[in-house]
Amino acid sequence: MTSPVLVTGGTGRLGRRVVDGLVDSGCDVRVLARHEREMAPAVRFFMGDLRRGDGIDAAMSGVGTVVHCATSTKGDADATRILVTAAVQAGSQHLVYPSIVGN
Ligand SMILES: NC(=O)c1ccc[n+]([C@@H]2O[C@H](COP(=O)([O-])OP(=O)(O)OC[C@H]3O[C@@H](n4cnc5c(N)ncnc54)[C@H](OP(=O)(O)O)[C@@H]3O)[C@@H](O)[C@H]2O)c1
Repeated sequence: MTSPVLVTGGTGRLGRRVVDGLVDSGCDVRVLARHEREMAPAVRFFMGDLRRGDGIDAAMSGVGTVVHCATSTKGDADATRILVTAAVQAGSQHLVYPSIVGN
């Protein structure tokens, strides 16, 4: 069985599409965001705040790949730093960070 994929900001515009694609591909998908939204029943939601560092460890446990789609008007650098530290500590091997550039 493959390890879970964690999509930060999986309730956002880009994140929702990423989540749908991963679910369609048969992945075990987790979402981390501050507010729960309606999503596919197969998706496991973790409430957390990347800027504050809340809820990340539980969401990250056993995760092999992180797709970082969370963003807000301020603090993205700090949030990403906290996320990367948590991913390294959890032994997560891959982190995908989509760029706005070129889209
Ligand atoms: N939209 C596009 O067309 C597009 C294209 C290419 C690349 N991108 C890139 O993709 C990323 C996402 O963009 P988007 O347009 O999808 O943004 P968005 O719709 O504003 O979604 C942001 C997501 O991040 C979550 N979030 C915000 N602050 C958070 C925090 N402190 N902790 C945890 N989750 C947090 C939000 O949920 P909560 O508010 O509930 O926490 C939401 O799920 C950005 O890096 C952007 O540059 C976007």
